[in-house]
Amino acid sequence: MELVENSPLDTGKIASLISTRDDMFLVWPIAKWPFDHRQWAEALDPGKGNVSFIIREGGKPVGHAALLNKGVPDTCMVSFLYLLPEYRSQGLGRRMVAALEDYAIHTFGAKRLRLVVRDYNSRALKCYLHCGFKETGRDGTLITMEKDLQEGIAGGQPAGAGDAL
Ligand SMILES: CC(C)(COP(=O)(O)OP(=O)(O)OC[C@H]1O[C@@H](n2cnc3c(N)ncnc32)[C@H](O)[C@@H]1OP(=O)(O)O)[C@@H](O)C(=O)NCCC(=O)NCCS
Repeated sequence: MELVENSPLDTGKIASLISTRDDMFLVWPIAKWPFDHRQWAEALDPGKGNVSFIIREGGKPVGHAALLNKGVPDTCMVSFLYLLPEYRSQGLGRRMVAALEDYAIHTFGAKRLRLVVRDYNSRALKCYLHCGFKETGRDGTLITMEKDLQEGIAGGQPAGAGDAL
């Protein structure tokens, strides 16, 4: 599994992965359908410190993920996680989150990751719990989760090593 920066941002690469309305709803419930390139370009604007990644497995693009800068000190938002259906439920999601942690620590010096997940998305919720995220808030179906990177190990490096960068 490889995280490849989608830079310069090419929303066409994301559109070619998310091919059904149901999948789009899981990734981003308020996203327009069909895929709206402007909406995605705004949400992933690299000028605001956001990074979009294409997930590759065996050299083939199989998914997407993003780290967003929401202006919260030391905190990166993990967002827009997506794997093609045939690559799900095999532990790839956990490896993808571990790679995102590693990137966030070493590139941004992040001390915390945050994400949101819907309570009906059991597979994603289970994946995030396995990765060490803990629920910090709930609003209707929306669950906010966080992981303190100082407590764990990411990418084989002591957490917090990014402080030195
Ligand atoms: C969310 C996603 C990135 C997770 O990646 P993944 O590779 O499927 O996750 P993992 O295999 O690491 O972990 C999923 C866990 O949920 C379990 N699972 C699978 N289907 C499930 C279901 N219907 N209900 C509950 N758990 C389920 C898996 O068995 C696995 O647990 P295990 O390791 O104990 O067996 C991926 O499933 C995906 O792209 N889903 C569609 C888009 C989406 O939901 N994005 C997230 C928006 S917040």
